[in-house]
Amino acid sequence: MTRGVLSRDEIRRRVDALGPWFHNLDLDGVPTAPTHFLGDYPNVKWRRFSGVIPDRLEGKTVLDIGCNAGFYAMEMKRRGAERVLGLDTDEEYLAQARFAAEVSGLRIEFRKMSAYDVGQLREKFDLVIFMGVLYHLRHPLLALDLIHEHVAGDLLLFQSMLRGDAQVDPLDENYDFWTTEHFDSPGYPKLHFIEHKYADDPTNWWVPNRACVEAMLRSSGFAITAHPEDEVYLCKRSERPQADGPVYPFRRPG
Ligand SMILES: C[S@@+](CC[C@H](N)C(=O)[O-])C[C@H]1O[C@@H](n2cnc3c(N)ncnc32)[C@H](O)[C@@H]1O
Repeated sequence: MTRGVLSRDEIRRRVDALGPWFHNLDLDGVPTAPTHFLGDYPNVKWRRFSGVIPDRLEGKTVLDIGCNAGFYAMEMKRRGAERVLGLDTDEEYLAQARFAAEVSGLRIEFRKMSAYDVGQLREKFDLVIFMGVLYHLRHPLLALDLIHEHVAGDLLLFQSMLRGDAQVDPLDENYDFWTTEHFDSPGYPKLHFIEHKYADDPTNWWVPNRACVEAMLRSSGFAITAHPEDEVYLCKRSERPQADGPVYPFRRPG
């Protein structure tokens, strides 16, 4: 372990070499992203919803999908989680996460793996964290379905960027072919497709409104149990309303 072994100057040198950082972490007094456009991120966000996660996670397993530099993975380890596995597709973020965990003296495994490949893990986790990834995916429902089928054991901590109206319309089970006005209501589930870029980021693909993200979670078999922050949901794994698997599902008539 590197904790207490590296001087502050050496940590600063490594932080600079591993940058740019998306997570502003405090590594022995060295901030990794002090000029983040969202402020002290994700600390400012975490403070608004940390209360919905159990204070102590002894004996629990945690999977952090899209872990970036490991902020949430490290918070879960600090709460005593027995095993924490962080996944990301980006080697540079994974290198940051490994360094940050080492400097912080936290034993966490980080692996290069996509949200689409979680079936390869062959393991269920007590808590799955899926924060800030959905809108970066071309196939967001596929990822949610795969998480439900393969790795979600109990709780899902979820966040998505949201755009559009915050109203959530109650939905009927069915509408006849000639009924169309509900599609135009601001509170109807809508997923905005980004063909080119949003916020200069070509990996932003689909941004839901609130009604849509809640409907997507339910449709993938995640019952919303808490909504502690605008974009954040705590869910409990439940049965999927449609029982078909994620890849070739169909809706049976009737
Ligand atoms: C906006 S950041 C969110 C980071 C962190 N989860 C948080 O909430 O602060 C999105 C992260 O998802 C990762 N990512 C993008 N596509 C992914 C995929 N298919 N599977 C796993 N991670 C992915 C990116 O590399 C990036 O680290």
